[in-house]
Amino acid sequence: MSRPKLVRWLLPPLLLLVLIAGMVWFVAFRTVAQAPFPDAASAFNHGSIGNEDAQGIPYWIWRVLPTLFNAYLPGPTGYSSLGLYWEPGAELPVGFSKKTVGTERVSINCAFCHQGSWRLHPDEQSQLALAGPGNQVAVQGYLRFLARAGNDPRFNADTLMDEITRIYAMPWWQRLTYRYLFIPATRKALKVQAENFSWADANPPWGRGRIDPFNPVKYGILRMGTDGSIGNSDMMPLWQQALSEGPNAAGEPRALHWDGLSTNLHEVVVTGAIGDGMSYRNFQRRSVREHLAGIEALVRDLMPPASPFSPQRDPADPFHVSAADLARGEALHREHCGGCHLPDGPRFRTVIPVTEVGTDDHRARMWNATAAERYNNYREGRHAWGFTGFRDVDGYVAVPHTGLWLRGPYLHNGSVPTLRDMLRPPTERPPVFYRGYDLIDAANGGFVSSGPEAERVGERYDTGVPGNSNAGHRYGTDLPEADKAALLAYLKAI
Ligand code: HEC
Ligand code: HEC
Repeated sequence: MSRPKLVRWLLPPLLLLVLIAGMVWFVAFRTVAQAPFPDAASAFNHGSIGNEDAQGIPYWIWRVLPTLFNAYLPGPTGYSSLGLYWEPGAELPVGFSKKTVGTERVSINCAFCHQGSWRLHPDEQSQLALAGPGNQVAVQGYLRFLARAGNDPRFNADTLMDEITRIYAMPWWQRLTYRYLFIPATRKALKVQAENFSWADANPPWGRGRIDPFNPVKYGILRMGTDGSIGNSDMMPLWQQALSEGPNAAGEPRALHWDGLSTNLHEVVVTGAIGDGMSYRNFQRRSVREHLAGIEALVRDLMPPASPFSPQRDPADPFHVSAADLARGEALHREHCGGCHLPDGPRFRTVIPVTEVGTDDHRARMWNATAAERYNNYREGRHAWGFTGFRDVDGYVAVPHTGLWLRGPYLHNGSVPTLRDMLRPPTERPPVFYRGYDLIDAANGGFVSSGPEAERVGERYDTGVPGNSNAGHRYGTDLPEADKAALLAYLKAI
């Protein structure tokens, strides 16, 4: 065959191949950076952390899932029933990003767990506490919702497309991609995710405001076998993270996470994103790298909203605290708590051994030396992440008291509902209460944790369940009552 003839023969199939490859790339892989956000807060709440290919659910599937599978959510109000804050008029709840990777996909980000909400009165709108300790968020509720939806026979192209086209006039070509690509692929991905988390069904439930953050890392990322350990932890706020960097006043390295498993804020931010599905390939994208750097910069100096407890209020107001109590409380705090909880204290942000603090030891035992070593040596293909800050320590970090009024329920497992209960000996702390209601408890500090509304909105917390013990941390429990009252006033106001 002559050369021009060969070209004429080969050209059309070649062109067709290129066209098909281009279409596949366009439909499945084309990544479009998100439009810039107006401020750091909305970037934190809705910015992508580069996990769409691992976690992202095609937008229109995500939209109709609560309509079809509402019975699998904790309540009748769609995604809101997962305890997520939904700003008025916003397209997505706080903690979700939307980004095009092939198609528009919805993914979780840091704000899924690091968000807070509160109210001072039951009939008031909840307010958002940026990067607060997701006190209401039902992460396991979301995972179980997706698992049950993905395993439901109604998760099929006919049913989903019916529901989607009811609310959106989808162009024909996109219908094809959804029907033949995205719906089957999402169904498969949800089934795989359900299997990956099946170990958690053998453990006590996480409940609202808690997750088991590091067992998924051990089992999924570090490829360790399941070991039956329980790592259920309360969410942490990301306020004033500059206080978690460098050595403390006594020259001790400041530790992050409840058990102090890392001493490096930057690595904790990056591994936060890895834990949520960010790949190294995506970390190399400038938009993702810059976004994570922006988060790190934001949380270094971010402060919680000012406490509503104040001496300026009318003495009849339940949020009034007296100036005298505040002054006395502050001195008592410095004397009895400051060595561990004030930034200039010698044990601030260091790990206090479990044997000393005496709180539930499950979370501390869950992380071990093998896990720390594997994470420091973690590689993705040929890329070594080069982490250096992971370690194994058997205790809990004396955390800052920044925004204590919004940090309830207290301790690493969220086992003590109010600040008043923190000052009671463990045997006098409530053995059962309800968490997930965002009304501030004016009398006791923390959130209202009993009564009909707390029971209706919240979730039952039983301190008898493994990992839920409210033992230990007896500091301040034998102070005279008048001192406790003054200290409580101060704790509520910071
Ligand atoms: C699925 C929930 C969840 C997501 C998503 C999440 N975190 Fe966290 N984060 C937690 C929990 C829970 C803790 C406390 C865990 C522990 O140590 O037991 C925590 C701890 C932290 C800490 C340590 C705080 C301290 O004071 O020691 C930092 C920093 C942090 N997260 C940053 C991030 C960043 C940045 C992202 C996003 C890239 C992120 N997290 C995503 C749940 C989450
Ligand atoms: C010896 C160090 C030490 C002293 C002293 C100490 N604490 Fe703590 N505190 C800790 C540790 C460690 C934790 C975390 C324990 C856990 O979560 O299991 C903690 C946790 C807390 C929490 C929960 C914080 C949260 O975000 O959930 C509160 C509230 C608290 N302490 C109040 C006090 C008060 C009030 C005093 C003084 C009367 C005090 N602490 C004295 C070490 C100390």
